[in-house]
Amino acid sequence: MTAPPTAFTVISPGRVNLIGEHTDYNDGFVLPMAIERGLRIAVRLRAGRRAVVSSDRGGPAAEIDLVGPHAAGRTDWGRYVEGVVAGYRRLGWDIPGFEAAITADLPAGGGLSSSAALEVGIATVLEALCGLGLPTAEKALLCQRAEHEFAGVPCGIMDQFAVAFGRAGHALLLDCRSREIRPVPLADEVAILVIDSGVKHALADGGYAARRRDCEAAARLLGIPALRDVSPAEWPAVEPMLSDPPRRRARHVVAENARVLDFAAAVEVGDWTRAGRLMDDSHASLRDDFEVSCRELDLICKVACTVAGVFGCRMTGGGFGGCAVALVDAARTTAIAADVRARCGEALGAEPTVFATAAAAGARVVAG
Ligand code: GLA
Repeated sequence: MTAPPTAFTVISPGRVNLIGEHTDYNDGFVLPMAIERGLRIAVRLRAGRRAVVSSDRGGPAAEIDLVGPHAAGRTDWGRYVEGVVAGYRRLGWDIPGFEAAITADLPAGGGLSSSAALEVGIATVLEALCGLGLPTAEKALLCQRAEHEFAGVPCGIMDQFAVAFGRAGHALLLDCRSREIRPVPLADEVAILVIDSGVKHALADGGYAARRRDCEAAARLLGIPALRDVSPAEWPAVEPMLSDPPRRRARHVVAENARVLDFAAAVEVGDWTRAGRLMDDSHASLRDDFEVSCRELDLICKVACTVAGVFGCRMTGGGFGGCAVALVDAARTTAIAADVRARCGEALGAEPTVFATAAAAGARVVAG
């Protein structure tokens, strides 16, 4: 092994999902992109075999023992770091002591994958420190496992893949069964707006796991490996075999998978009206059938769609709060963002944070 670099910086982006919600753990399709906001992690070597990780969000630094037993039952954000460290240690990696200072311009618990940004960011730090690298998909899977085991969230693969594989100017069409990725270029004519409802979600609270269980129950009843295996054409024959809530959860997943492929095709030919309508349909399905939206997100989507230059708007991420994403006319992004902010502000009683973002590169080392 070559000597580890003594100081460097890692950028790890958040992600926004354009379409394909709650489909990843059903072996389906998603279309996320890494965004320009995220975490910046300044790292330097430190004597001893501990990691000391601090955050500009305040609170005590998280300390991780790099050689002793893992701290069990940890509840602070350091559990994400601990989980990723545990993953690399399991592979036999010998991690030198380090200090890391994190600054973030991503809302935590805001549906933009702050936890995946932290996991994949730390994985990138460890790989640079050790002068080694896993294949990117394995790195993302190790981070997903950290989230399962150390944060108790049975998430799919979308967030960690989006953060790890992000590509400037492209959304990523990810087949969550084969794990094949097709980068979909986003034309300059459109821009992406993120609208933060300000409602914090906590996926570990149980709603996410309950939805996942409903989907698995539906697949079991149908005798198929995953809901991915039902096509929209087959749905009318399948629907009577299920009862609620699994029936409505499955209806969402079957339709949403088809919408992702339609959306990617619409983006590829620049049919923004169609792409926007698919986003609106996705939101309605998440609200009514999957029941993961909330009053604030519903209001934002309803109001944003009435603003000239907005093609479509939907909640993004796991739901129960967090952000909405809108596809808008890039020639008027600033005016549209101002309009969306003002009109949503009237409806909500407080102006939401709205920002435009391009698709960005995935987690990476940026400075020596
Ligand atoms: C969260 C999870 C993802 C995915 C989305 C919903 O972001 O981490 O794996 O399931 O919710 O699409």
